[in-house]
This record gives sequence, C-alpha cells and structure tokens, in this order.
Amino acid sequence: MSCFSSADESAHYGFSVCMLLAQYREQLGWEREGVLELGTGDATVIADVVAALPGLRVRSFDISASSVERARANIAARGVADRYTVELGDFFDRADSAAGPPVSTVIANPPYIPAPDRDILMPELWGGVHGNDLALQLLKAGHPNIVMAVPSYSDPVTTVATASDLGYRVANFLAMALDFGPYSSEPKVRAHIQRICAEGRGWAGEDEYMVAVALLTQNPDIPGDRAPHLLRALQLGA
Ligand SMILES: C[S@@+](CC[C@H](N)C(=O)[O-])C[C@H]1O[C@@H](n2cnc3c(N)ncnc32)[C@H](O)[C@@H]1O
Repeated sequence: MSCFSSADESAHYGFSVCMLLAQYREQLGWEREGVLELGTGDATVIADVVAALPGLRVRSFDISASSVERARANIAARGVADRYTVELGDFFDRADSAAGPPVSTVIANPPYIPAPDRDILMPELWGGVHGNDLALQLLKAGHPNIVMAVPSYSDPVTTVATASDLGYRVANFLAMALDFGPYSSEPKVRAHIQRICAEGRGWAGEDEYMVAVALLTQNPDIPGDRAPHLLRALQLGA
C-alpha cells in the first residue's frame, strides 16, 4: 500500500479549507464541534491548517494503513496531535457510528479517480466509474456542511445536481487548474477521463483539469447559491 502524494493538489485543498473555515467560522461553529475529515493522506496540509487555526479540532479517517502511519508522524512533527487525530478505517463506517455529539462539518479531498475498475495505481483513490461515488456517498451521509474538492473530470454536473436535490447550496469555492499527475496520467485512467469528457460529463484539457474546493451547505444562516459559478469555473455549464 502506498500513500497519496500530489503536492499541488494537497496544497490547494489545505489552503482552501483554511480559507473557507476562517471565512465561515461563526456559521459553521467548528470551534464548538470540531470537524470530521474523510481521507487523511499524509496529513501535512491539514496539520498546517490546524496549527494556523488554534480553535480547530479535526477527527480524520483513512482506509490506507500506510497513510495513517505517515499521517500520525507528520501530525506529531507539527505539534498538533492533541487537536488532529487519525483513525484507520472507512469514514462511512467509523464516523457515523462515533459516540459523542454530532459534528456538522466534514472536510474532504475524497478519492476521485474515475476508472472502469479499482485496478489502478493506488486503488484507494478509485472514485467509481465516474469518479464521484464517494462524493455522492458523502452528500447522502447527512452532514449539513461539506467542504469538498470537486474535480472537473469526475462528473461534477451530477455531483452538484445531487447536492441540490439533497438541499445543499454552493456557498463559495476556490478553483485552481492542476496538471495531470501520476494518478490521472495512468493510460487506463487518462483514456477513461477522455470518454467521460466526450460524454459531456466532465472537462479536461490536454494535460490539465480544474479542481474547486467548495463549501456545500444546508445551513440557512449561510447565504447564496453559487452552483452555476462553480460549474463554470470547472469549464462546464452554460
Ligand atoms: C485524494 S486523497 C486525499 C488525501 C489528503 N486529504 C490530501 O488532500 O492530501 C484521498 C484519501 O482518501 C482515502 N480514502 C479512500 N476511501 C476512503 C474511505 N472510505 N474512508 C476514509 N478514507 C478513504 C485514501 O486512502 C486517500 O488517502
């Protein structure tokens, strides 16, 4: 087993999570409740966010044993182990059955590699045939606020439409173009991404794609619905 490694993508995820948590601090109430995280990876970027936001506590889950081991070392090295904990296991089994008061905000850069099957470079990154299986599962898990990476080639139109059907609005987002890394460059994955884009279910350039980290919320205290803006930033939509 390996550990997810994509410096630019992780940096964008961490920066955007920090910005959105800070911007919506009052409404999200994370200083009272903490937040949950689906998919720790090596934990470096969110450990830096925890260090930057003294009131923040993160309870994170990852199915990759090597990632959990590396994450714990990185968190300890950054001195935030008291506020950033990592558990080995499936987020959907572990987080929902956790004791204690419910936590309303989840952060995630979920697995989103689309492929016909799980036999890819890092199987833990498989997001199903269209890449958004875990994003859709997270939307259905019932957490009122989700800060989540939404990539342009993983059928974001369905992700945003499902979110809307479930009562989420896109409050805000930060979008960035990323070059194809090792996971999306794998020939089998690259060919599959081309098919998804040809079907009109995604966008990718020759060697690049877009990722937006969006705050999806059911909270009436957070105004706005920027779903069309989000899809346009991902090079989709009218
Ligand atoms: C795209 S990586 C993101 C890692 C890290 N958050 C980052 O941005 O650097 C997704 C991570 O989710 C983990 N993962 C996949 N399925 C999971 C599940 N059901 N529950 C918890 N973690 C999962 C993978 O092992 C992987 O480490």
